[in-house]
Amino acid sequence: MAWTVKPSATMQIPRREEPYLCSQTIERYRAEILPRYETRLAALMPILHDVQHTYGWIPPQAMEEVADFLDIDASQVMDTATFYEEFHTRPIGEHVIAICQSIACEACGHQAIIDHVRNRLDIEPHETTKDGRFTLLALECLGSCDTAPCALVDDDRHDDLTITAIDKIIDRLSR
Ligand code: FES
Repeated sequence: MAWTVKPSATMQIPRREEPYLCSQTIERYRAEILPRYETRLAALMPILHDVQHTYGWIPPQAMEEVADFLDIDASQVMDTATFYEEFHTRPIGEHVIAICQSIACEACGHQAIIDHVRNRLDIEPHETTKDGRFTLLALECLGSCDTAPCALVDDDRHDDLTITAIDKIIDRLSR
């Protein structure tokens, strides 16, 4: 993958007036998440999961708010959010089709399935269809190598995946 160069000095973060971490959310994090961890930094992952669960993705403004709350650098939040492919740092489609591309799935024909979905939805991995319905991702190992090839579709894992099976899933989600 080519390096992405961003104009950091002039980049504008889209902002909204209403915070992503409202006072109720912050109270909940204080009561339910922080006590589980020895350091505030350790609470970063569960909080990012919560933000993504709430908004579907992790907006840059939310990253700053998380950094303020945890008293860490915004760059630490961004590093974490961009390191894991499961975190979305851009808006995603209504449904996410995430196909494993690691070694076992590669050996069991994942590429044919990815190519089929690319052609059917007319998008590349990490793109979203124009109607906002589907996002296609290529992920690393989903921890189910013995049932390769496999994929996560929204929150459900699909094992021993075939082109017929992924077509049926897309048909169902398109209705
Ligand atoms: S390689 Fe695909 S689940 Fe492990």
